[in-house]
Amino acid sequence: MEITPEIKEKLEALQSKYDVMGQDMLAYLDGLLHSEYVNYWDYIHLDTLLSLQQPRTPIPDERIFIIYHQITELYFKLCRQAIEQVQDQENLSKEFFMRQLKRLISYFESLVRSFEVMIDGMDKEEFLQFRMALLPASGFQSVQFRMIEFMSTDGNNLVHAEARQQYTHNSAPTNYWSELYWKRGGLEMKTGKKTLTLRRFEKKYSKTLQELATDQLNINLNRLYRPWADDQDLVKLLRRYDQLATVDWPMAHMTSAAKYLDKKPEVIEATGGTNWQKYLPPRFRRVTFFPDLWTEEELATWGKAKRGGTQGAKCPGMH
Ligand code: HEM
Repeated sequence: MEITPEIKEKLEALQSKYDVMGQDMLAYLDGLLHSEYVNYWDYIHLDTLLSLQQPRTPIPDERIFIIYHQITELYFKLCRQAIEQVQDQENLSKEFFMRQLKRLISYFESLVRSFEVMIDGMDKEEFLQFRMALLPASGFQSVQFRMIEFMSTDGNNLVHAEARQQYTHNSAPTNYWSELYWKRGGLEMKTGKKTLTLRRFEKKYSKTLQELATDQLNINLNRLYRPWADDQDLVKLLRRYDQLATVDWPMAHMTSAAKYLDKKPEVIEATGGTNWQKYLPPRFRRVTFFPDLWTEEELATWGKAKRGGTQGAKCPGMH
């Protein structure tokens, strides 16, 4: 076999790579001889992936419910990764920030579009049956959703609207922790006590989330965009992401909750008795990741005003 200049060049590059680590290149080449070809099914762990749907009832549509939650959690993971990449850049450039925002936008657009799988894709009677077997579990316990929030904005922006003004972007998470807006979503409507769903979530994740919120104080997206706050292209992307994550996704989600749970007091009980009708709509919670990028009026009507398409899904930044 002829050792072409290209092969020689590659071997030299490999040699330097292993030299740096004090490794023997020949041993690694030997390893290559014996290693298996990569198969698609091994690479993405297809068998494992397809074994992760374990319904709690024999009701067929429960599988759709499980799979769509898993799909959403994978998208949430993509979102976290997209933000982490921004935060890990040593010299963050506006171009890189914008690239990552476009990724976040495309992930949330996929999620909003695909929520049809929940809204129209399950039999209502079947849903009401298998949902009872899943108590006290709820998507409310999705820690990745909370992580995306803390990575996107300051903790004080996640305090419920009435208490929000008491805190600033550098308030310590322990100060506002009990006033986070979602804590209210986990209260029993009748007694005002914490639901089992919330108590179990707190037991498992409070520490992790508080640590994350502390780590994110100066590096969440609402801090990082400041050097380019006057750049209209960047601002447009930030607003679009904000709209998708804090209005459009919650609205798509709310629509499915309303379809399956509305006007069924006994099923509302099945959520642990939460006041989800008050908690889920964006217009009540008025949470936004980048409040400085919206006008007073836009903030006051958050989640209410139609802003092009579904709650402004098509063209935020056009006001
Ligand atoms: C038919 C489908 C669904 C229904 C009826 C539904 C219902 C609900 C309800 C009633 C709540 C309020 C908390 C509670 O009372 O338990 C909630 C919260 C939540 N659910 Fe769902 N859900 C559905 C699908 C999903 C999916 C696919 C996800 C994806 C992970 C999800 C994630 C969440 C999250 C993150 C929360 C907290 C929401 C927030 O703070 O804005 N849900 N859900």
